[in-house]
Amino acid sequence: MDNEQRKKNGSGLVGLVTAGLHNIINRIFRETGPFQWLRELFQNSIEAGATRILVGIEWQAAKARGVYRRLFADDGKGMTSEELMTFFRTLGEGGKPVGGRHENFAVGSKVSLLPWNRHGMVVISYQGGQGSMIWMMADAETGEYGIRRIRAIDPATGVETPTAVYEPFNDVEAGCDWRTVAPEWLRECGHGTVVVLLGDTPDDDTVLGSPFQDESAIKGASKFLNSRYLELDHLDVMVEELNGQDKSKWPRSEEETRRASSVEGDTHTVNRRSIRGARHFVHFPKASKGQVASTGTSTLSDGTTVTHVLWEGERPEVGDHAQRNGYIAVAYRNELYHLTSHHHSFRGFGIVQKDVRRNLTLTIEPPEATDDSAGVYPGGDRNRLLMRTESGDGEEVSIQRWGAEWAENMPEDVREAIRQARGTSSGSIEDAAYKDRLAEKFGDKWKSVRIKLLPSGDSHTDLDSLQTGPSGPGGTEGGSGTGSGSGAGSGGNTEGTGKRERTYGSARPRGVRGRKTRGDGDIPDYRWESAEEFDDGILATWSPHDPQCPAGVVLLNQDHPVIVAEQAAFKDDYGPVHAEDVERIVKVVYGEVAVSKIAHSEHLKALLPSDLVEERMRSDEALTMSLLGLVAEENLIVERLQRELGRRRSKAA
Ligand SMILES: Nc1ncnc2c1ncn2[C@@H]1O[C@H](COP(=O)(O)OP(=O)(O)OP(=O)(O)O)[C@@H](O)[C@H]1O
Ligand SMILES: [Mg+2]
Repeated sequence: MDNEQRKKNGSGLVGLVTAGLHNIINRIFRETGPFQWLRELFQNSIEAGATRILVGIEWQAAKARGVYRRLFADDGKGMTSEELMTFFRTLGEGGKPVGGRHENFAVGSKVSLLPWNRHGMVVISYQGGQGSMIWMMADAETGEYGIRRIRAIDPATGVETPTAVYEPFNDVEAGCDWRTVAPEWLRECGHGTVVVLLGDTPDDDTVLGSPFQDESAIKGASKFLNSRYLELDHLDVMVEELNGQDKSKWPRSEEETRRASSVEGDTHTVNRRSIRGARHFVHFPKASKGQVASTGTSTLSDGTTVTHVLWEGERPEVGDHAQRNGYIAVAYRNELYHLTSHHHSFRGFGIVQKDVRRNLTLTIEPPEATDDSAGVYPGGDRNRLLMRTESGDGEEVSIQRWGAEWAENMPEDVREAIRQARGTSSGSIEDAAYKDRLAEKFGDKWKSVRIKLLPSGDSHTDLDSLQTGPSGPGGTEGGSGTGSGSGAGSGGNTEGTGKRERTYGSARPRGVRGRKTRGDGDIPDYRWESAEEFDDGILATWSPHDPQCPAGVVLLNQDHPVIVAEQAAFKDDYGPVHAEDVERIVKVVYGEVAVSKIAHSEHLKALLPSDLVEERMRSDEALTMSLLGLVAEENLIVERLQRELGRRRSKAA
């Protein structure tokens, strides 16, 4: 194709156009999370160089019409009337770079606000003391979004014409004078932007947030900002929080909120809260009764860093306006994603004890993806991070994999905190003989090679090293960690002659890069803990990365009613002299049975992806179910009791 030809083809292209853009906007909106609109407005303000931000209430309409609208204001650089029109009218057009993996989409504020502000979002922007205003809204009939035209006098011609951008004006219908809705500090400095949210009808109290999300908590906006943004040290951010859900107690004017106390006591007030950012609520620079005991950063094999902050002493009082306890989150450009304080996530990092969870915050900072290197980048909904890996774009972030690697080289201070927190456990099992017993009973079936997928791993789960299966009775077993165990190899293996050998599905996929972590005797430990370490009703939980139990540990709930009832029943049989032995034996049996379930489930990894085995088959619920039923466990308990304590006393005795 010569150049001429190419040009013709190029210019002959019929570009795509959009119809029903509002449908697309509504659809993207549905994928956003709570307070996404706040993030978008906040982010725009930061990007506009703001030093002061107010997440406030528009008090004029509150006073004139009893409508409480959310008002958002910043002293950023603002927009000219032309910019305002272009940036808010055009999806995909903004004053900042658009389109790259880490760049803006130029849709943020519109998409997150219009679907729940169909009556309008008013944007007033100031530059050089000059204010320009637009009113975006949905067409009541078609649902399409656009900018509302009003009749205004063109200052150049003096003629009244319909126009979409105009100077702010006194709007009796809306209940406010748009010339004065911007806070004084903004109008005084002459630059900045105000957004007022009108909701779906003229009477909506948009201070309660989006009705499509759970945003009505009084301190919700504060908590969101204090959890989403890592550090806001050079920004003056304030949120006006109402005093409760009961509208009859809301202040009826701004003046009322400034009074020392109102006539009926001080209920009619607002709380004006400074927002500090997440880091503040992890380090608590001014706390008196406790302090940061340890902090440090570890670097993982893919370049991701994990920073831990461990608190000691009393935890400072934090209300609902920030994270109260420790959590795990992924940081990307001063924003936290995937924040969780769930014990499952902590368990992936080798942390089970409630006391440690409460005091430990882990901030994961992965490298940013480029077009030719792995890393993270924000998803289109700006609500989660995605990963680019060797296999491509759009993968989920690998929090559990980072957790496993971090746990292997857990910082010594955290390890020590775990040791200290062992308070609730009733003595870990010194008698490791049960492992030998279990191993003896079931032969080498459990001697699995655990493959941990690691991008930098040096082993391959290929046939040569892994499908050797169990050696026959008396043969050498996989003591060297070279993978001759049957856990990985028994699948599809028909050569072995071991008596108890079983086949569970086809061989492990070949050529998966990984690292062999353990070769033999891979039987987990178990440990009894008190009820507070468990969710309600849960009897046992699996913790694969416990720093003290290299093969993982099953935690059992010593206060679970099933266990308490079992102990009571057998104590009754054997009388008070043997009470302690009975308690112990019940625990030993349940512990060993639980361990055998986990060890046996290793085989399912030949049938299912191993993360499914970890997450579902070994979930708290599944493990608890597997320990119910009494029949099997009671047989074992009886057998053990008879061996150790002799026959039970007769009921008559
Ligand atoms: N508070 C503000 N101050 C100054 N300019 C703003 C403000 N808010 C928005 N803008 C301008 O309007 C444009 C559109 O904002 P919008 O949030 O819709 O998209 P974006 O920020 O460009 O991209 P993204 O979709 O990633 O948010 C911005 O690029 C910016 O130029
Ligand atoms: Mg934006």
